[in-house]
Amino acid sequence: MTTMIRPGGTIGIFGNGQLGRMIALAAQPMGYRVHVFGPEAGSPAAQVADEETVARYDDRTAVERFARRCDVITLEFENIPVETVRWAEAITPVRPSSGVLEVTQHRVREKTLCVDLEIGVPSFASVDSLESLHDALRGVGLPAVLKTTTLGYDGKGQAKIATASDVPGAWSSIGAREGILESFVAFDKEVSVVAARGLDGSFTNWGLMENVHANHVLDTTVAPAAVDDQTADHAIEIARQILEHLDVVGVMCVEMFLGADGAILVNELAPRVHNSGHLTIEAAFTSQFEQHVRAICGVPPGATTMRPSAMANLLGDLWAGGEPQWDVALADGDVKLHLYGKSEARAGRKMGHLTALGATGAEALARVVAARGALRKA
Ligand SMILES: Nc1ncnc2c1ncn2[C@@H]1O[C@H](COP(=O)(O)OP(=O)(O)O)[C@@H](O)[C@H]1O
Ligand SMILES: [Mg+2]
Repeated sequence: MTTMIRPGGTIGIFGNGQLGRMIALAAQPMGYRVHVFGPEAGSPAAQVADEETVARYDDRTAVERFARRCDVITLEFENIPVETVRWAEAITPVRPSSGVLEVTQHRVREKTLCVDLEIGVPSFASVDSLESLHDALRGVGLPAVLKTTTLGYDGKGQAKIATASDVPGAWSSIGAREGILESFVAFDKEVSVVAARGLDGSFTNWGLMENVHANHVLDTTVAPAAVDDQTADHAIEIARQILEHLDVVGVMCVEMFLGADGAILVNELAPRVHNSGHLTIEAAFTSQFEQHVRAICGVPPGATTMRPSAMANLLGDLWAGGEPQWDVALADGDVKLHLYGKSEARAGRKMGHLTALGATGAEALARVVAARGALRKA
């Protein structure tokens, strides 16, 4: 038997963005209190949390005080310094653990893990100088993409290399620092498996999500992905193996590329709830956020039965011509709006999302895209 953190207990969250906000919004109906830790006040998560600590991640006194006030701590983004998590871990359980973060913060380590597990990844090499980049290109070939090893998100810290003449520019654009060179995959589809592993090792997932990115940022997700059952089962099995191997407790997302021939290559691991799982709020009996709360608190998993659905992200660009027309977009009663409480609508910033249900994934996608389009119509 594992020790359950009972409703009434306090869940701490490192990070204070929209993912923390949606974790809090799932934890509170079950009776948990939520305490958010992050460097700036008034954040999306803090707006809904029961308690907030505003401090830097390197403020050890603040981290330890926070840990003493929580029954369990989780994180909503993977770039929390590992050392910070270790300080907290000495006082209170952190799920997922610092060991999971050490691997998933580092693109070379996470790809090496896949290789060790005999899971396909794009061919890659680590680079630490312009000469090593040239060497790596001979092995990886063109086209390729150069990424920073750590701290990248939403396509930041990435540069495509189509021809040899792109090399110096790519190297300086990632800041001339440690990186990973990957072959650029001409994938047929991008998919993800959002999965949860409980304290007792239970494994649940919501099937395969099909994702479309625009400018390296997730644009839409459809569930279920339009792939055959065998491919979906294979992808889910890959996710199960990774979560098991890393001894993850909580939700983790495995992003993958699908080749036209059915080949699956893992792109990256996100040790947290994920944008491609947002549609589970409406489409599943138990959302990714609730399942994450259950997992980290040692509560048995909820059913993940899904309805066909689609999600469209709302980026700050939508505000360029003034306030979007919410009433027009929400005229369709099968569409739901989520806004994250961010005050400034900068271009490219994730401000919210729309979810739609439908008889099929394709119908839900058409509905959610139409609703998003309606936000801007005069
Ligand atoms: N090796 C690759 N081949 C083709 N497309 C890629 C490759 N790496 C990244 N991309 C594209 O860029 C997106 C973002 O890259 P990713 O490595 O997931 O970084 P992050 O999500 O951390 O910014 C991917 O979802 C994919 O659309
Ligand atoms: Mg990604």
